[in-house]
Amino acid sequence: MTVSVPESTWQPMAHRLAERLDTDGDLHTPAWRAAVLAVPRHEFIPRYYTQDTTSRPLRWTAHEPHDPATVGSWLDLVYSPTTLITEVAEFADRGVQAAVSSSTKPDLMIRMLEALDVADGMNVLEIGTGTGYNAALLAHRLGSEHVFSVDIDPHLVDTARDRLTRLGYSPALAAVDGADGLPDHAPYDRIIATCALFAVPPTWITQLRPDGLALVHIEGPLGAGNLTALRHVAPDTVQGPFLPWWGCFMRRRAEAGPTVGTPRPTRSGDTPTTRHTTVDPAQLDGGQRFPFLAQLHLPHGILRSIWRSDDGRIVTELRAQDGSWAEIDRDPDTGGRHSVQEAGPTPLWAQVETAWQQWADLDAPPWHEFGLTATTERHTVWHRSPDGPQWPLPLPD
Ligand SMILES: C[S@@+](CC[C@H](N)C(=O)[O-])C[C@H]1O[C@@H](n2cnc3c(N)ncnc32)[C@H](O)[C@@H]1O
Repeated sequence: MTVSVPESTWQPMAHRLAERLDTDGDLHTPAWRAAVLAVPRHEFIPRYYTQDTTSRPLRWTAHEPHDPATVGSWLDLVYSPTTLITEVAEFADRGVQAAVSSSTKPDLMIRMLEALDVADGMNVLEIGTGTGYNAALLAHRLGSEHVFSVDIDPHLVDTARDRLTRLGYSPALAAVDGADGLPDHAPYDRIIATCALFAVPPTWITQLRPDGLALVHIEGPLGAGNLTALRHVAPDTVQGPFLPWWGCFMRRRAEAGPTVGTPRPTRSGDTPTTRHTTVDPAQLDGGQRFPFLAQLHLPHGILRSIWRSDDGRIVTELRAQDGSWAEIDRDPDTGGRHSVQEAGPTPLWAQVETAWQQWADLDAPPWHEFGLTATTERHTVWHRSPDGPQWPLPLPD
């Protein structure tokens, strides 16, 4: 059901949102402020989902406004800097639901749009249409004829198109895998991806204009990563820094529907070695800078889990596709050291320890000291300059 909200109700709320983004330092540009004021976000989020953490398997509850009380709380949420899950899908074989689309929180979206550094007349390709809200902001700022947006999910694209049309916007939308870009309308001055990727697809490099800019969230298998602002510096190369502030996104799906994760390889049957480490496995938690650096030292398909062992210890386990594994006690002994067991051909924890040493040598660098050079063949992460310390980004086979 779509409730009708009068302009006199939502406009002051959009105003308050713009004020808040302004005060919090997210919004600086009058043109983007005008877009926030003009585009009714509630039209793009008639329903949102929250996770019911008490059910097993986890379920998502849909919320739709239907009376004055729910309309009020829905509008408060919609006109606040909050990410709202807008689509869930069920794995056919296991009755588990996963979030597959969301309306990204407006503070992050506006920061990205400002970092996109657009000018009148530029053509922008958005990857991840989702609700269509961001496409509407872009269309308001640049004119619909300059905006192109794709999503892997045809249902999302159709729904977004209806909403955009109702509001008088007509960007070109397509239901395709964003990894292919949108060759029919290339080249683009700007590409903005609102889903996270392991690597920059070669098509984006070739579909970007010389000196064009792509904003891409690069994320490794441990879920650590951040946005990069990549300039097209040569026909097959984009290059640039990670942004100083952090934002996270849903990972790119290879097909519509929920993505099945990397299969869990069988653990190597080799007899494990046991030793101690001073590196706390909690350092790998979260999606931030040290786990990101550690990922650069680990094989691409690495999996991490945290569980309680039969004898009651809480452990972090790393497992690689070649069967190598490492199990590290989360609790230290009285000397502050953590017990490590590992087996298999790849010394996984030793590689994390190497990363930890580099992290200390580089003085725990902030995000913007890292950068990325991506060609159609290879990706290299660097520190401070493309000629500084560098690491190949482990890519899927
Ligand atoms: C965070 S949501 C996008 C939010 C959107 N920009 C908005 O304003 O509502 C991420 C979107 O990326 C889409 N996506 C995931 N994998 C994709 C792919 N391979 N190609 C294109 N879109 C993809 C998802 O379906 C989802 O809608």
